[in-house]
Amino acid sequence: MSDDNLTIRTENLTRQFGKLVAVDRLNLAVPRGTIFGFLGPNGAGKSTTINMLVGLLPPSAGTAQVAGFSILDAALEVKQRIGVVPEGLNLYERLTVSEQVELVGRLHGLSRAELRQRLPSLLELLDLKDSANKMILDYSAGMRKKTALACALVHVPEVLFLDEPFESVDPVSTRAIKNVLRDMVAQRGTTVFFSTHVMELAERFCDQVGIINRGQLVATGSIDELRARTGLGEEAALEDVFLRVVKADVAVEQDEELLGWLTGSGAGAERVETNHAG
Ligand SMILES: Nc1ncnc2c1ncn2[C@@H]1O[C@H](COP(=O)(O)OP(=O)(O)OP(=O)(O)O)[C@@H](O)[C@H]1O
Ligand SMILES: [Mg+2]
Repeated sequence: MSDDNLTIRTENLTRQFGKLVAVDRLNLAVPRGTIFGFLGPNGAGKSTTINMLVGLLPPSAGTAQVAGFSILDAALEVKQRIGVVPEGLNLYERLTVSEQVELVGRLHGLSRAELRQRLPSLLELLDLKDSANKMILDYSAGMRKKTALACALVHVPEVLFLDEPFESVDPVSTRAIKNVLRDMVAQRGTTVFFSTHVMELAERFCDQVGIINRGQLVATGSIDELRARTGLGEEAALEDVFLRVVKADVAVEQDEELLGWLTGSGAGAERVETNHAG
């Protein structure tokens, strides 16, 4: 595929924290107008990758282009074209959702008139109208996540980077957000790059996925391609593909041995009962 069609391209993108290589020579290519799911176990390097791509964290080595611009040489051009829900959300606690979205919108050069038109529909979409006058300080986890999403959407970015966007968000809002994102992809060619642990979500929502494990990209492609590559049947769930790719099945078996004291099976369970009796 020619580079013109790629919205995100990383070239040996690497980040070290001391001796730990959190992201190890990552080479990713995400075509324009794709919903790309970035999957991996806890600590695999998903957030570190996203943070480098959006300019929150400098890479230790390698580079990337986002929306046609280098994250190293043209960080401002990149930031103008992206919307981000970072892992830590980075919200101003003492603003209301409207103030927070207005602030982000103004920083992106939107006029007050444009914001007046966009804000009510965003609050409606995210079901935040009734809480619009509360400070973010008083928001629930899901309301915070939705506020961050409103900020990521208000300037209609070419590329969305969403780190666990649906975590803590209720099913009604999740459905509404997914529908809007799908429309943006279909009608505007928006690219959505998001991380998740929820395999059912990735399975239904993504055009392509990438699986990262211990900092390394271990699989990438459509879910059908991954099924074929792992030798699992056409009907295999993405969860099984994921477990196969990150070789986690072994760990699950081991847990049954090790956790007898907790699950009530095996020798460990007897020990706990003995203690009770004694
Ligand atoms: N600022 C930091 N300083 C030191 N180590 C860090 C820092 N940020 C991340 N790490 C380490 O880098 C590795 C990757 O972390 P990262 O947050 O990217 O994982 P993740 O895939 O997003 O995990 P999760 O699914 O739990 O969100 C982990 O081992 C983590 O401890
Ligand atoms: Mg993370």
